[in-house]
Amino acid sequence: MNARKQPIAIVGPGRLGQALGRLLNEEGFLVAYVAARRRAAARSAVRFIGTGVVVGMDSPELAAASVILFTTSDAALAPVARQVAALRKDWRGRVILHTSGSVPASVLLPFKRRGAAIGSLHPFQTIPYPSVGIRNLRGCMWGIEGDPAARRLAKRWVKAINGTTFQIRAGKKTLYHAAAFMVCPTLVTLMHHSVKLLKLSGASEIIARAMLSKIVAETAGNFFVFGSRRALTGPAVRGDWETIQKHVAELRRVIPEVLPAYRELVRLMAALAGRSIPAKVLGP
Ligand SMILES: NC(=O)c1ccc[n+]([C@@H]2O[C@H](COP(=O)([O-])OP(=O)(O)OC[C@H]3O[C@@H](n4cnc5c(N)ncnc54)[C@H](OP(=O)(O)O)[C@@H]3O)[C@@H](O)[C@H]2O)c1
Repeated sequence: MNARKQPIAIVGPGRLGQALGRLLNEEGFLVAYVAARRRAAARSAVRFIGTGVVVGMDSPELAAASVILFTTSDAALAPVARQVAALRKDWRGRVILHTSGSVPASVLLPFKRRGAAIGSLHPFQTIPYPSVGIRNLRGCMWGIEGDPAARRLAKRWVKAINGTTFQIRAGKKTLYHAAAFMVCPTLVTLMHHSVKLLKLSGASEIIARAMLSKIVAETAGNFFVFGSRRALTGPAVRGDWETIQKHVAELRRVIPEVLPAYRELVRLMAALAGRSIPAKVLGP
């Protein structure tokens, strides 16, 4: 059957579910049903997606879909999948997908035992709002795993929105997810503290955010082109330990809660640069 004609049900449409649902709809795929534990949430998701019928989590209509896409939070996947799988004895010919980066497709085994193909597709992207997702999910990279039929469908969807898929090892998803976590929310946390320092040094909040966004974008671009070692700059790389020592003293005074993270990052940075840090530089 033409993938665009297969009725899709989206279960648990949060930020990612709504954004992906809308993109699939824009690309001519048939988002037929939307289920959420609160009907008001499902109604609002349908408005954002632009199509779909609101159904309950235990609705027989949900079982009529050819494809079910679970976009709930990770912890809800297992119980919600069990609940929905129990709606039919036979799921043969159906494809069941989820969008978690850390949970393997095997969380959908209750469907596979009843004949369905199961898989997962995870965008290596950050979606703080559905409206951001409809922009940045286009052209992004997606980690996929699972049964061949499920991977085939995931690839079709991703291709339709100009993205790239790569296969990830189901047993290594925690590492895969940690890789994204290590550079995304952590970066926001570091920038949050950088803003405090910039404001103390005279910049307004909005200027500070613009400054950080530019330097981070440039750093990311250099990292892509040159690789980690050659993209590194700054006093730790130059061996300018006096400056690092001054940072440590001022950070201890102004934002001491950040100092342990700063120290560990300097250690990792020096190791990457092949430098050893003289004793006492990082303080007690
Ligand atoms: N946002 C991102 O940047 C991003 C990026 C890549 C992958 N992902 C993955 O996408 C998935 C969803 O993330 P998200 O950021 O879209 O989360 P989200 O905005 O918090 O949405 C999660 C959805 O799950 C629903 N849910 C939670 N527990 C449920 C339950 N027991 N039964 C039914 N629905 C339940 C929530 O419904 P209520 O409104 O009723 O709580 C909500 O609609 C996760 O697996 C996440 O790892 C997210």
